[in-house]
Amino acid sequence: MVETLEQPDAAAETDSVTGDEAMPESRAVKLGVRDLSISYGGVAALRDVSLDVYENEIFGVIGPANAGKTSFLKTLNLMDSFNSNMQVEGDIEFNGRNIRAIKNVYGLRSRIGVVFPLPVGLPLTIYENVALSPRLRGIKDKQELDIIVERSLTRAALWDEVKDRLDSLGSLLSGGQQQRLTIARALSQDPELLILDEFSIAVDPVTTMRIEDVLKELKSEMTIILVTNLVQQARRLANRTAFFLEGECVEIGVTEELFSGSVKDQRTRDYVEGKFG
Ligand SMILES: Nc1ncnc2c1ncn2[C@@H]1O[C@H](COP(=O)(O)OP(=O)(O)OP(=O)(O)O)[C@@H](O)[C@H]1O
Ligand SMILES: [Mg+2]
Repeated sequence: MVETLEQPDAAAETDSVTGDEAMPESRAVKLGVRDLSISYGGVAALRDVSLDVYENEIFGVIGPANAGKTSFLKTLNLMDSFNSNMQVEGDIEFNGRNIRAIKNVYGLRSRIGVVFPLPVGLPLTIYENVALSPRLRGIKDKQELDIIVERSLTRAALWDEVKDRLDSLGSLLSGGQQQRLTIARALSQDPELLILDEFSIAVDPVTTMRIEDVLKELKSEMTIILVTNLVQQARRLANRTAFFLEGECVEIGVTEELFSGSVKDQRTRDYVEGKFG
């Protein structure tokens, strides 16, 4: 189903981040993960992952189904606290602070925006979908909310298509529009870290490319973790990429190096070359 998006395209060659451009200037660590292990009811889903995500980079996470990618993301903004069956060990530091020591979980979640694979439409108008989080944060002024809504929808490349029908239900939009609405909702909080989990699964290739352009722009303002099962998408967007396989972080490297065969582990080469997955 998603394979259609993998057709080789010239942009993959020219747009991919290479050489000096590959790394953000500052290597300030936005997110530090140490010895992270996750299991469900005693069955391991992720083992002993340690990695750093730098400020203003797009950090790709690739790997086939059941690699533990989504489980990894869930721990980053403490979503595991909703699931008593999920056990998490290890440390996660956000801006140098252990997230488990952060008392204001709501505050943490407002700094980390998450976009799930399928758009989770709230039964609200387009406007209210985007205004909800700012309202919950206490913003009541209509003008201020209008500005946030327009800005978030613009950044998500959706404004032009919906500006004349902000009062209609978000659920009436097309799949690709709903996915961009979800992104606009995540952006309404001005997150420092934006996490996307296979955002293009229900989105057509043209919309996928538009969202990819949006992400390239957003990188200058925030840090992005992009989980994708489209390896060429990681190649187009990610500064560095981690390859997860069956609960193991096999390798982390500068994306272009991984894709040009400069790998430490043969499994990485096989995966990026499409030999399995
Ligand atoms: N809520 C859950 N309860 C029990 N087991 C789970 C739960 N969520 C995930 N798992 C298990 O954890 C392992 C990793 O799943 P996860 O969803 O993290 O993989 P993934 O890499 O995101 O895969 P996909 O590409 O299919 O989304 C799988 O074996 C899965 O069955
Ligand atoms: Mg997943």
